Amino acid sequence: MKIIRVKDYEALSKRAASYLIEKVRNKPNMILGLATGGTSEGTYQYLIKDYKGNQTSYRNVTTFNLDEYIGLDGNNENSYRFFMDTHLFNHLDIEKTKTHVPRGNVKDPLKECDTYELLIKERGGIDLQLLGIGGNGHIGFNEPGSSFQSRTRIVELADSTRRDNARFFEQLEDVPTHAITMGIATIMESKEILLIASGEGKREAMRRLLQGDVSEDFPASILKKHSHVTIIADEAALTGL
Ligand code: GLP
Repeated sequence: MKIIRVKDYEALSKRAASYLIEKVRNKPNMILGLATGGTSEGTYQYLIKDYKGNQTSYRNVTTFNLDEYIGLDGNNENSYRFFMDTHLFNHLDIEKTKTHVPRGNVKDPLKECDTYELLIKERGGIDLQLLGIGGNGHIGFNEPGSSFQSRTRIVELADSTRRDNARFFEQLEDVPTHAITMGIATIMESKEILLIASGEGKREAMRRLLQGDVSEDFPASILKKHSHVTIIADEAALTGL
């Protein structure tokens, strides 16, 4: 794993955006895996800024997001579809039909998981997957204990994850209990992975990622087994490491 250490969240956002932009420019029809969450927001702002200034085109890019809450419609402002539309897609020339986020409000969520896996396969797999990391080491919504062999499926969210994400909702009770997430095996099949981490709250997760064992108790640890992972993290997340 290659580690790029940057000063702060602003520098991280800029660096991660440049990283993605270069990849898109080199392969304009790339399959890009995307993440939601506070960490990725700044990166997306810089992608939009670059699009407006330098006209990097996303017309031929296909995207697959990692996860979505079960029960939330894409128009619900806490859904990850809504997050992606408002924080990124609506501001680029990307074709909406080429943006994929699991649908959390379908009648048959199990079928949705299988369809999502198939779609990724049909498109030839993900070229570059952007990842955040949960305080407990989750990637996507693969919570501690998730099998390294897991594929896109329905999962129950850990209490700590619901509490962490409650800041986006009116109250904790509104945070869904379940989600659809790409599996760990699905994520590991990406040709390349870019993980971003910022702030003191991610320090312990970074410590375990960099110094701990590979174990299903800490899902992100599997990334050590991937041949092409880059981590961009700020000083606060890397203090003492
Ligand atoms: C969320 C998402 C993840 C995200 C992570 C970190 O629950 N499911 O995909 O990477 O947790 O989120 P944040 O960047 O807000 O800390």
